[in-house]
Order: sequence, then C-alpha cells, then structure tokens
Amino acid sequence: MSGRRKFIKTAALGSVGLSTFSACATQAAEVLKTTADKTIKKPVIISTWNHGLAANQAAWDTLKNGESGLSAIETGLKISEADPKVRSVGYGGLPDREGKVTLDACIMDKNSDCGSVSFLQGIKHPISVARKVLEKTPHVMLTGKGALNFALSQGFKEENLLTPESEKAWKNWLEKSKYQPVINIENHDTISMLLVDSDGNLTGGCTTSGAAWKMHGRVGDSPIIGAGLFLDNEVGGAAATGLGEAVIRTAGSAMVVELMRQGKSPNEACKIIVERIYNKHKNHKDMPHLQVGFIAVNKQGEYGGYSLRSGFNFAVCDAKNGNRMEKPDFKMTWKD
Ligand code: GLY
Repeated sequence: MSGRRKFIKTAALGSVGLSTFSACATQAAEVLKTTADKTIKKPVIISTWNHGLAANQAAWDTLKNGESGLSAIETGLKISEADPKVRSVGYGGLPDREGKVTLDACIMDKNSDCGSVSFLQGIKHPISVARKVLEKTPHVMLTGKGALNFALSQGFKEENLLTPESEKAWKNWLEKSKYQPVINIENHDTISMLLVDSDGNLTGGCTTSGAAWKMHGRVGDSPIIGAGLFLDNEVGGAAATGLGEAVIRTAGSAMVVELMRQGKSPNEACKIIVERIYNKHKNHKDMPHLQVGFIAVNKQGEYGGYSLRSGFNFAVCDAKNGNRMEKPDFKMTWKD
C-alpha cells in the first residue's frame, strides 16, 4: 500500500465505533502483512466512497454477530440503499431521463454463486432481491418486470423511490437535458463492497441507481458479474465504481482478479486495469467525463484501490485499524 494517503474519518465513526472495532480486534487472531509490510488482520471489509463507512460498520457488526458473509454484505449495502441522501443508490437515487429510478445490484459468494437484478423499479433493496435470486432461483440475473415480479413473489413491497429532492434535480436537468455523467467525490456513484472473513473466504456485492439521466432501460456494470464485481475464492475479489460502460467494455473486475491470480497485489492489479481503460478510452467520446475506480482484496486480506481520476476514495475496516476512509492513488486529475 506504499504511497497511499490515508486519513481517519473520526467524525463519522466516533469513539464508540472505534472501541467496537478494538473489541473485535482482540477476537481476530491472525495477523497478516501487506506487500508494504503493513500488518493487517482479517476480516477486512472495503467499500467504495464515503457512504461505504456506514455500510462497513453495519457489515462488520453483522459478521461479528456470527452471520454469514452474504448477510454482512446485504446488511451493509442496505444502509446506502435506504439513505435518501445517497443520490446514486436505492431510495433517493437520481432517476433516468424519464424520471424513473431504476436499480442494479449483484452479490457473489465464496462458492462463486451469484445473484443479480438489473433495471429493477419500485423496490428499495435490490441487493436483497439479488440475494434471493442467488438463493431461490436456478439463474444468475433477473431484469426489469421479471425481477420486479420475482421480488413481489418473495414478499418485497413496491414503493415510490423518487424523493422530492431527486425529482427536483431531474426537473432542473430537463431544462437543458444534457447527458454528461460526472462521477466524483461530491457526486459519487455505486457502492461496491468486498469482504474477506477471518478464514479468508470472500463475499462481495454492488448496488446502484446507475448513471443519472441515463436512457430508460440502460444497465450499467454493477449487476454484471465480471464487470462491476468479480471474485474467486482461490484468489481474491474486485469491484468497480464509475462509468459502467467503460467497465463493461474491459470486463474490469474479472481482469483485476485474474491479475491477482498471476501474483499482482490488489493495488497493482487495480492500477493495471485502470491504465488499460485509459488506453482504450483516451480518444473516446467518454474520456472528458470518464471516471473509473476499482477496489480489490486478496485472500490474505491485503487490499487496495486505484482510480483513473482524482476524487475517488474508499472505506476500509479491519480488526487492527478500525473503520476509516482511504484515498487510493490515481492516474490523473480532472484538469489533466
Ligand atoms: N457504475 C454504475 C453505473 O455505471 O451504472
């Protein structure tokens, strides 16, 4: 993790949260080293953006209660999905250009079992529906009306996810109707979460309302296994944030995992794939507004991240250091 600038977000965690994690640290016996010889302890949970901090806390508490990695990921991601202030995920997410909130999510476990929903409307917790797809169906992905019908059959309730604030933002956008997704720390994006438990087993998930003002029916990278999320329990896991089209074009998360399989650290693997995305897009129409970031964790609990442009951050929680925000390295600033 050399060169990583780190800061502790004490305001969001507080002393109560830190003492909770200290208590957990006494229960997590195994001590591991990163490639930079920093000692870290499993379990480790890592999530994209500032909203990852509260999500990590909920996931950690779930794991600490003895529940599964799937339950920890689901519980953590539901925090962001339910928060109307998080305008890129779930309830309160910015709508498409028709004013409709459409949601994508996926979840994957140590056995490579996965569940996914895309273009789902009217259900506050798509990550929970994705888990039901994993557990209750013979399929990996359900989409649109089929995903909604399945959710209703599983007892989920249909509700309006367009908050007055998001509706107002959409009406403002309609005045010019200019489509230019900008993904940065203020206007953040998907929450993607990776977890490696104390036995080195991996679980991951993503959930998002996708790019604001997208075409109705557009699906991004987040529900696509291999793009927005991939893990192999023999190696590690990776997850993406940013412009989904660029991540899909390069099978981003799967490639990060394959590089870790070949011996790259999580940081190195994320950086190589971001460089690849840059090279594929440097003359592309998406380049002026392109942001992509990856997080990754390996089976040993070593973690990392890297983004194309400045502004990306992630929340990471481990037994030794607690729950904090970190800024990974990046290729270029928005001015470059
Ligand atoms: N990364 C989220 C999306 O592009 O939909």
